[in-house]
Order: sequence, then C-alpha cells, then structure tokens
Amino acid sequence: MSLQFVVADSEAWAAAAVARIERVLTAQPAACVGFPTGRTPQPLYGELRRRAGAARRKYSELRAVMLDEYLDAEARFQSWTWLKMEVFDPLRIDGRRIRRMPQRSAGIGAACGQFERALQESGGCDLQLLGLGANGHIGFNEPGSAAGTRTRAVTLTEATAGANAAYWQGAFTPRRAATMGIATILQAREIGLLVRGVAKAGILRRALSGEISAECPASFLRTASAPVWVLADREAACRLDPKVLGTLGYNVPWP
Ligand code: F6R
Repeated sequence: MSLQFVVADSEAWAAAAVARIERVLTAQPAACVGFPTGRTPQPLYGELRRRAGAARRKYSELRAVMLDEYLDAEARFQSWTWLKMEVFDPLRIDGRRIRRMPQRSAGIGAACGQFERALQESGGCDLQLLGLGANGHIGFNEPGSAAGTRTRAVTLTEATAGANAAYWQGAFTPRRAATMGIATILQAREIGLLVRGVAKAGILRRALSGEISAECPASFLRTASAPVWVLADREAACRLDPKVLGTLGYNVPWP
C-alpha cells in the first residue's frame, strides 16, 4: 500500500489539491484525469478556473474522463452538464478530449462495456479524483459493491438519492446512475480522495482504519497498488489519530 494522508486548513485545501494535479500535468500535460461531481471538489474546481482564467495555466491538453453520471436525467441535472460548466468549458478542454459516461438506460450494459474498453484502450486514467459518500461510496459504488466491479448501471441508496436531491433543492432526485466500478477506479495510475467537512469525519475514519470490505467501498482504496493520496481538511480529519494511521503504515506528513 502506498497511501499518503494529507491534512490542510480549509483555506489551503484547494491549493493543496491543485498542487497535486499540477504535479501530474507537469510530468505529462496530456494526462487523463478522472473528475467527480459534488460539493467536495467545488473549491478545487474554483481554483482551477481561477488559474485558467488568469491565463497562468493552460489545462487544454489534459484528457478528462467522467467518474459517473445519472441515468435518464434532464440535461440540466446531468453530471455532464455540471462538469462542463464547472470544469471542462472554463478550462477549455475540448469535447473530443473528454470521455463521457453513458447517460441513458437504454442499452446501458453495452454502453458501459464500451466505456470501460475505450478507457483501457486509450491507456487508462493517470489521476482519478474521488469524493467520499456519507455511506463510504466512491463514484456511485454504493455499499455492497465488490472489489472486482467495472463500469455499470447502479441503483442509488435512499440516503444517496436524498443527499443528491438536497443538492438540487429537491428539483431532481436521481435513482439510477452509471459509474466506474471499484476495479476500474483502482486501475488508475494515481488516485486522489478529496474529503471536506466534519460530516465526513466518521466515514473517513472508517474508510482508513476500519475493516476493508464492500460495506465501505472507499476502504478498497487501501488495496490499490497505485499511489493513493487522501486530502482532508481539518474538520474531516478530526476523528483520525495520526498515531493510529502511522501504525497502519500510512505516510502521514501531519503536524
Ligand atoms: C459524484 C461522486 C460521489 C460524490 C460523493 C460525495 O460524482 O462520485 O461519489 O463524490 O457522493 O459528494 P459530495 O462531495 O457532494 O459530498
């Protein structure tokens, strides 16, 4: 396991995340980066937009891949639309450089298989960014998702559907989604788990120091052969004990 745990103050969190992305892009400007949606990455995406807008940084060479997507959602509620607005358009990433997740139930099995194959054939993901669901999901791999899962259609739990509905002020409640599987995610050459806020403190602790099992899909990150970094703000990290993480073998550059 090569897992590095980093804690940042809230104000420094986005810059710390950008620094990790920049490191990958400096080595490889056309790296393939996997993007999640949600509240957690918003400061990171804001900082990327700020840098791209100030023309301090060009991101147009990177290749993007979507981590997940709601099925059969109106365009305005799709993850695609959200990522286009938050990330892809402001960073001037051409649509041809973006691998889009299937978004319709019709033919979803074949479409997910095609997504998975095309991702592998293009060389896979260099840096997969992830958020952490309140129940331990990564992507939309809900509890019960096995380590060997690949890109597929899933049904969201009531809790996840509710959390997403709250994001859209109740105007949209997703029920079905397509998501990269756990095995797909673990194949990335580097993985970054982004965590913010005290509401995630308990599940982060469970993911990092609880049992490794399908009941907490994020715990599978501890089985990755690729380097994994976890970037948490102090609120999300408040239930972790650096000594315990140290004894578990994590690299903890934590004051
Ligand atoms: C969304 C995704 C989900 C979210 C998770 C946390 O693309 O992959 O796993 O990362 O539900 O969501 P937030 O960040 O809104 O708390």
